[in-house]
Amino acid sequence: MEIQTRPGNRGVSCGKAYPLVKPFLKWAGGKRQLLSEIKKHLPKNIQEYTYYEPFVGAGALFFDLQPRRAVINDRNIQLMLTYTAIKENVEGLIALLKQHKNTEEYFYRLRNADRHGERFKGMTTIEKAARLIFLNKTCFNGLYRVNSRGFFNVPYGKYKNPMVCEGAVLRQISRYLNGGTIDILSGDFEPALMDAGKNAFVYFDPPYHSSDKTGFTGYQAGGFNQNDQERLRDLMVRISRRGAKCLLSNSDTEYIRRLYSDDFFEIIPLRAKRNINADPAGRSNAREVLIKNWKDPCP
Ligand SMILES: C[S@@+](CC[C@H](N)C(=O)[O-])C[C@H]1O[C@@H](n2cnc3c(N)ncnc32)[C@H](O)[C@@H]1O
Repeated sequence: MEIQTRPGNRGVSCGKAYPLVKPFLKWAGGKRQLLSEIKKHLPKNIQEYTYYEPFVGAGALFFDLQPRRAVINDRNIQLMLTYTAIKENVEGLIALLKQHKNTEEYFYRLRNADRHGERFKGMTTIEKAARLIFLNKTCFNGLYRVNSRGFFNVPYGKYKNPMVCEGAVLRQISRYLNGGTIDILSGDFEPALMDAGKNAFVYFDPPYHSSDKTGFTGYQAGGFNQNDQERLRDLMVRISRRGAKCLLSNSDTEYIRRLYSDDFFEIIPLRAKRNINADPAGRSNAREVLIKNWKDPCP
């Protein structure tokens, strides 16, 4: 089972043909609570575009829109292997998920597989996918977080009845991923957009800029620094010149406002509720912005 490394040709349409389809993981920065706000700022004729989401995470907007043609990408290879496993062998994945046991000892045995390189390397794609889903559903606060060595490091959550295997949802996601032209990539955001042009709508949801360094950055070893934020802005300018429509989420900081201060961009402030945050006080209201690169005609 291989993840593609580069997208092919596409064109498009969207439609909610799969009502059970929704994110199959909890993900830091997931956009479920912001969907109604974000959807107010999509291009009017979104169904005519090829949808790109280069930082897809758990895919809240992607699964909500269900585009028929899309390119999804994330640098987290375990995550994108899981999308691929759902697409290519959902029944095998469900069978494995049903075997997992919700005990502390079992959790740590599976969690620690990545600390033993050979054991992890020897696992099949569906075994790795089942491990990621199981750990995400049973770990504390439902989260994917790794330490600087790339080892999953969230403790056991002690939940009584976590929903580890949502078979009907996974089967419908699999049907959706196989029903259209959905390219599943894993890598940095830049190559994922190499052919995004006039017919592309791109939703960028990168790790957020944090002015006080307390923001969540543990999606994978390596993080996302100011150089990456600037690379992203430059890419957005480049693909805007090729005619792509871009919408970006980020935190509402002075730095981000400065980065996108060109008239070319419109900055829309939002108030967002965050679910996953190391600091429970941070669950209330965070300030975020949406940044778009096109102006809708006056009604
Ligand atoms: C804010 S989360 C996206 C959340 C997603 N929109 C959702 O609804 O769940 C940011 C994602 O960017 C990914 N990421 C971090 N650095 C990246 C890079 N250089 N290229 C591509 N993806 C990256 C992380 O693995 C993480 O999944």
